Amino acid sequence: MTESVKNIVILISGAGSNMTALIRTAQQEQWEVQLGARVAAVISNQPGAEGLALAQALGVATQVLDHKDFESRAAFDAALQTLIDAHQPALVVLAGFMRILTPGFVAHYAGRMVNIHPSLLPAFTGLNTHQRAIDAGSTEAGATVHLVTNELDHGQILAQAVVPVLPDDSAKTLAARVLAQEHLMYPQAIKDFLRELKPA
Ligand code: GRF
Repeated sequence: MTESVKNIVILISGAGSNMTALIRTAQQEQWEVQLGARVAAVISNQPGAEGLALAQALGVATQVLDHKDFESRAAFDAALQTLIDAHQPALVVLAGFMRILTPGFVAHYAGRMVNIHPSLLPAFTGLNTHQRAIDAGSTEAGATVHLVTNELDHGQILAQAVVPVLPDDSAKTLAARVLAQEHLMYPQAIKDFLRELKPA
């Protein structure tokens, strides 16, 4: 391992399908050789997150930091920062990490923390994006990869994927169509981002 390897730390809370897509792509495309980048660890705030076992099966180290063990959001974020920084990450990837982050934490990773949000931002920040897109009569929906800033689901947009909203869509069918595109877009957007980064 060279010292300049760009470590990626992925944060999850649940299913981890975007995490899985990212790890698989990194392995299949040999990012370590091609980009000098590797997924160093997956960290979950939920001990029962399904993605933990998936990451382990793909040979990636996992860590759990249960937010319920902390008295405050600030205390949790401080401990999480320590855990993440042990990997000296070039990039922190939020992949279904269902936590509001404190301003100090966000500032610490400014310009090197990305998120994927299941809407065509700036439309439909927050939760229940697919139902809201259907209710609004949108003909198109999608997902957005963006840099994380202190305003929820704002920050520079790095990539977007668009899908049609079909007349008989439910939130579930639309979510599945969007998620399939997320799995293609997120690894590609991260790859593009890493290529732009100066060596660590
Ligand atoms: C995705 O819909 C993503 O856009 C959002 O959270 C969900 C994560 O799903 N941020 P998964 O855990 O990657 O399967």
